[in-house]
Amino acid sequence: NNYDYLFKVLLIGESGVGKSSLMIRFTDEFFMDSHIATIGVDFKIKTVNVDDKLVKLQIWDTAGQDRFRSITRQYYRGTKGVILVYDVTNRDSFERIKDWMEEIDRYGEKNCCSIVIGNKSDLESKREVPKEIGQLFAEQHGLKFIETSAKMNKNVDEMFEQISKQMKET
Ligand code: GTP
Ligand code: MG
Repeated sequence: NNYDYLFKVLLIGESGVGKSSLMIRFTDEFFMDSHIATIGVDFKIKTVNVDDKLVKLQIWDTAGQDRFRSITRQYYRGTKGVILVYDVTNRDSFERIKDWMEEIDRYGEKNCCSIVIGNKSDLESKREVPKEIGQLFAEQHGLKFIETSAKMNKNVDEMFEQISKQMKET
């Protein structure tokens, strides 16, 4: 084996919040301005170093569109970490995080851990969800919170490192 841990990670959240952009930024170091909605699920692998251990991540990027819900629900099985993403410029995507948490409760593994991500932090002038509100919401649910920008490559590595640490400790 060329790794110490192997974890399956799922990206969930409304369509357009930037799930695919976060994954592609992390694995391919690349950003695309156009939105090509994910069909069903997409998958990539990357190995990271966390506290001197090699953690191999199998990242599953799900489609946010409602019509794919029955497909994406099948991917919670065996998933140790779930990344819940909203868009800081879209209040509705933040409010829907509660619904996505219900999906985790219903379909997720009992021992899975999750993290709340407010993406598109580069779009300060269009912001609809203050950082403090996202932070408070996550705290109330006992979850870690990070604001990211896939576009500017801000906190993307940190996000995967954080969920990796949690998965290692669980
Ligand atoms: P679905 O696959 O439909 O669920 O959407 P998604 O969550 O995968 O969204 P996607 O990554 O395709 O991004 C949607 C749009 O937001 C694209 O036009 C991206 O370029 C843009 N986008 C993603 N992340 C950022 C970001 O950090 N900043 C800015 N400014 N735009 C972003
Ligand atoms: Mg996508």
